[in-house]
Amino acid sequence: MTQDELKKAVGQAAVDYIAPKLQRDSIIGVGTGSTANCFIDALGKLKDDFEGAVASSDASAERLQKLGITVYDLNEVSELLVYVDGADESNAQLELIKGGGAALTREKIVTAVSREFVCIADESKWVDVLGAFPLPVEVIPMARSYVARELVKLGGDPVYRTGVVTDNGNVILDVHHLEIMEPKKLEAEINQIAGVVTNGLFARRGADVLLLGTAEGVKTIKP
Ligand code: A5P
Repeated sequence: MTQDELKKAVGQAAVDYIAPKLQRDSIIGVGTGSTANCFIDALGKLKDDFEGAVASSDASAERLQKLGITVYDLNEVSELLVYVDGADESNAQLELIKGGGAALTREKIVTAVSREFVCIADESKWVDVLGAFPLPVEVIPMARSYVARELVKLGGDPVYRTGVVTDNGNVILDVHHLEIMEPKKLEAEINQIAGVVTNGLFARRGADVLLLGTAEGVKTIKP
């Protein structure tokens, strides 16, 4: 199976996973990226079975609306039934690196409001140790150089993602060459640096379940 076929398979698996939980008044969280897009496309069939969605990016909001799914502002909603999103890496504890698509801050907020986080990924994202994928850090523009120097002190090699402005008007530093042995600790340490909005480690609140697309089929993995 190609990577695209695996992404489609996990998008459909996520729809099958959430379908029995949906109620007419349910509002769900929907993530960002090519795997999340496969979920959105498969979700269209269920559009009359739930109330609407909150999206973690403007791009996903538009895609949902095109399918006739109502998109809510998160401030109008007190709890989301479930959040479905992709990841750039996952370890066996379902601690994740996210933010390859620059939507990490909104993704972290939507995760926080959701009762359950269902991560969907193809098997290329499964790792023993997080960090081969450069860790995205969203930064207030005026703090970019300062934050970069602090990230070097933590052992990383930050690279400015040129030409990218997040939906929140900020910039991204991608931190290379980290071997992340203590994801929860590093997540907190980076978030303490003045000027950091958030970083792409989802470890303090990781996924509750991972639907992993493999050549042998979609595996359901819990931490
Ligand atoms: C978006 O900011 C990310 O967190 C995505 O969830 C992540 O980059 C995975 O994207 P793909 O599904 O496109 O690989």
